[in-house]
Amino acid sequence: MPLAREHLDQVADIEKACFQNPWPRSLFMEELCMPMSMDHVALVGAQVTAFCCMWLVASQVKVQNIAVHPVFQRRGLGRYLLLRALTLAREHGAVRAGLEVRTGNIAALSLYYSLDFCLEGRRPGYYYPEGEDALLLWRDL
Ligand SMILES: CC(C)(COP(=O)(O)OP(=O)(O)OC[C@H]1O[C@@H](n2cnc3c(N)ncnc32)[C@H](O)[C@@H]1OP(=O)(O)O)[C@@H](O)C(=O)NCCC(=O)NCCS
Repeated sequence: MPLAREHLDQVADIEKACFQNPWPRSLFMEELCMPMSMDHVALVGAQVTAFCCMWLVASQVKVQNIAVHPVFQRRGLGRYLLLRALTLAREHGAVRAGLEVRTGNIAALSLYYSLDFCLEGRRPGYYYPEGEDALLLWRDL
């Protein structure tokens, strides 16, 4: 379902649990206010178990952020949520989807390659402060 204000605390908690340099809650709030932003959450009851934030610009959708609550990882939720989000983006006119991912993020890379994303570039030293490279993956929708 669409991300809403009432989800923000839980989304920020998942973000903190999943990333070394987490987005602050205020950034998710900004996402909510941006017209190009398409943000989704997965729920079990009232609990947010995963989120996915994307930007739809012209005919391209960019996955800005995706994470699954650590307790709910490896149960197919990441794949389900990303596929659902991409389907909705396609229904809104997107024909290409792209994202950046750390070279060392094996879980995310495996997920993206399993969904037919292809390597199209690399941004050396993209992630601050460690300087890890970003891989640029794209796929047609
Ligand atoms: C990446 C992430 C979103 C995957 O979500 P998930 O719900 O755990 O993944 P799924 O259960 O849907 O798995 C889908 C596929 O991803 C891959 N995968 C997921 N976790 C993996 C792991 N720990 N190691 C290797 N491959 C993994 C597998 O290919 C898996 O398919 P399979 O189960 O048939 O082998 C999740 O690990 C996560 O939130 N990580 C922290 C945040 C993050 O790194 N986000 C991505 C930023 S680019």
